[in-house]
Amino acid sequence: MDEIVGAKGILTEPSPQENDMTPIRKIGIIGSGQMGNGIAHVIALAGYDVVLTDLTKEKVDKAIELIDRNLTRQVASGKITEEDRKQALSRITYAENYQGLSDADMVIEAATEDETVKRKIFVALCPFLKPEAIIATNTSSISITRLAAATDRPERFIGLHFMNPVPVMELVEMIRGIATEDVTFAKAREFVGTLGKTTAVSEDFPAFMVNRILLPMINEAVYTLYEGVGSVDAIDTAMRLGAHHPMGPLQLADFIGLDTCLSIMQVLYEGLADSKYRPCPLLVKYVEAGWLGRKTKRGFYDYRGEKPMPTR
Ligand code: CAA
Repeated sequence: MDEIVGAKGILTEPSPQENDMTPIRKIGIIGSGQMGNGIAHVIALAGYDVVLTDLTKEKVDKAIELIDRNLTRQVASGKITEEDRKQALSRITYAENYQGLSDADMVIEAATEDETVKRKIFVALCPFLKPEAIIATNTSSISITRLAAATDRPERFIGLHFMNPVPVMELVEMIRGIATEDVTFAKAREFVGTLGKTTAVSEDFPAFMVNRILLPMINEAVYTLYEGVGSVDAIDTAMRLGAHHPMGPLQLADFIGLDTCLSIMQVLYEGLADSKYRPCPLLVKYVEAGWLGRKTKRGFYDYRGEKPMPTR
């Protein structure tokens, strides 16, 4: 792991913002991929101003197009009005760099699930932020305490783990780092409530709660395939119809992204030092092939044709 210059560490004095419950109005979002665009969608729809940033403007433009398509689906099914759609879109703006996040009350990091990448982002971001701004990370597995230590404000740092697809899933997991102040937690929980989501609080252990339970199930499904117990279709049918899961585990793995699934299994395997979390070699092979699921049009299913076809 790179040494982070200027990191403040986790043992800090109580901050002057200890009792600060000033409302959150403007949110910066770093990363406009699957999770970042869903988070931007929900937050803009709830009436907040959103500033979206990513490595290129092209990525953000694509994300805004996708948000528009998903908002349009919600208009079509009567969940929101056409006016809501227009208002939400008008609240999302693009920032070329972190300077554009300087007046944000909260920044949500939704970049790649890679600790080095996330730590570099925090080191680069902090000098531009207001002192009272809260930083939230949407990490699905990495230690909040360790990520907080890469910032200048571990007391105003928190884990807010949204679920995919964000506009549909009702839950946000909340995770405190060791230094997270109560006021940060209270503000973040109030904010999540205004998005119409329910919170579940997890201690800061590898992969928290949802992924601690969900990912070993997915990994086991891949082992079931690897050992020839069942085909892709048989395994997914079994779990859809036999356990009433909305998606089969392999279909869900493709939906989450096989690279993300693998990195969460690696965090569990290394973080809990238990062989029961060993990533299935077949999952590793798919990732090495660049077959990452829906986003690359191939994973346990091939999405290039009219309907998804199992690849094994
Ligand atoms: N934005 C807005 N609306 C969306 C949407 C999106 N991105 N995706 C789906 N919807 C809406 C559809 O428009 C549809 O709305 P109506 O019922 O009003 O018509 C509704 O959701 C259902 O969608 P579909 O009819 O297309 O398909 P479906 O019934 O198969 O449901 C699903 C799709 C909601 C994704 C469902 O299959 C499901 O719940 N799957 C499991 C998802 C899951 O487990 N997510 C957690 C992943 S783990 C995670 O996120 C944590 C992590 O860190 C890895």
